[in-house]
Amino acid sequence: MSTEDVPVIAIDGPSASGKGTVAQRVAEKLDFHYLDSGALYRLVALIAIRSRVNLANEMRLANIARDLNIKFLGQEIRLENENVTDLIRAEICGTTASKIAAYPQVRNALLDRQRAFCLYPGLVADGRDMCSVVFPNATFKIFLTASIESRVQRRYKQLIEKGINVRISDILRNILDRDACDMDRSVSPLLRDAGSGLLDTTLLTVTEVIDEVIKRYTEISTKNI
Ligand code: DC
Repeated sequence: MSTEDVPVIAIDGPSASGKGTVAQRVAEKLDFHYLDSGALYRLVALIAIRSRVNLANEMRLANIARDLNIKFLGQEIRLENENVTDLIRAEICGTTASKIAAYPQVRNALLDRQRAFCLYPGLVADGRDMCSVVFPNATFKIFLTASIESRVQRRYKQLIEKGINVRISDILRNILDRDACDMDRSVSPLLRDAGSGLLDTTLLTVTEVIDEVIKRYTEISTKNI
């Protein structure tokens, strides 16, 4: 089977839309591989922060992206054999990732690495440009949205559960800043691709979103047989 025949479910959406959890659980249910593309940008960000790289140095950041020595072992993410799964979730990695993701050379350096996840029996990929750039021929493309209020509430709950004390107003400012940064960049901005379905998850539970994504994917993939 060539990679062109491997089914791909591409899921895009803004920060805190729940796409990561949904994509991961859909992949588990279908026994597909999973690509968390945001993690790649976060890994580049982590190295840049640790090495005090000037964030204006696009070429240096692209070289870091090209040379990433990483392993995805189930839910665990290893950088040079160090478990950085939780570290890259820090807010500073998210905001730095968003900044460096605006560089075309960084995005290009990560392209083949992302496409290499496309393996039999299938792939669920989530990010900002999965539908438009990385997997334009995906079997099924969907854009998840939710109201800003529910995205803030979800992020708040997530952080409180992890024992991290935060103010709602800080989360709101952070999500709005990240949306602006991800949507306003000139290369691969966060947008709903013309071929993507839309799912507003504001009033849905995670289970309902997962079921809906699988239902829509199944309808499309059985139609294509
Ligand atoms: O999904 P996330 O929060 O882990 O992503 C972190 C940042 O990485 C996000 O703000 C923008 C960038 N990103 C991107 O530009 N393209 C992707 N496909 C995934 C993430």
